[in-house]
Amino acid sequence: PENVVVAVDGTSGSGKSSTCRAVADRLGMRYLDTGAQYRAITWWMLRNGIDVHDADAVAAHAEAPVLVSGTDPLAPTITVDGDDVSVQIRSDEVNAAVSPVSAVPAVRARLVALQRTLIGDGGIVVEGRDIGSVVWPDAQLKVYLTADPSARAARRALENGGADLSATQESLLARDKIDSGRAVAPLTMADGAIHVDSTELSLEEVVDLVVGLVMERV
Ligand code: C5P
Repeated sequence: PENVVVAVDGTSGSGKSSTCRAVADRLGMRYLDTGAQYRAITWWMLRNGIDVHDADAVAAHAEAPVLVSGTDPLAPTITVDGDDVSVQIRSDEVNAAVSPVSAVPAVRARLVALQRTLIGDGGIVVEGRDIGSVVWPDAQLKVYLTADPSARAARRALENGGADLSATQESLLARDKIDSGRAVAPLTMADGAIHVDSTELSLEEVVDLVVGLVMERV
């Protein structure tokens, strides 16, 4: 699947990362986690004392940090000004601040440009909220991946070493609400996207399904 772009959008915790990495690995494609980029810029804002609820302050610093994404599906990396922040960007502080930062148009403009450069000639599986709708509307395959909130919270809590279920679900739903309601590039099912509900499916079943959809298109 050289030159192919697979766009996977969906709600928080629907299994996008695990699915996309496995699909990319199986098909010999690159992988781009755009959520990690929004998280990394958010981490930088918090670290530099920028008030993340002040959209003008966030916009004024949108270009400042140097972000580099590694696109190996087996070992994706994200660095900010040269520091690997893969672990730091999953903190509760970043979870709580990432949706307001991501709603700022200057942040989106900067990251969408970076994402388009990284996608380049394709051969990549890209996950996010607006990939099929804004970043790469010409993607050969667009998947809209969802699952019931309780299933998403259970998976995410397990990933985080048994974190509190109801707090995890609350945090996911709070992000979904901001991500779906924002003015610029809200989370939405893109034109031509295929809706996959993973509530009742294992990771392997979802991966098989998406790999099958890619193979139909190459
Ligand atoms: O995918 P993940 O849950 O890591 O994304 C974290 C946050 O980054 C989302 O809740 C959303 O606010 C933002 N995001 C976005 N657009 C993308 C990817 C992520 O606004 N393409």
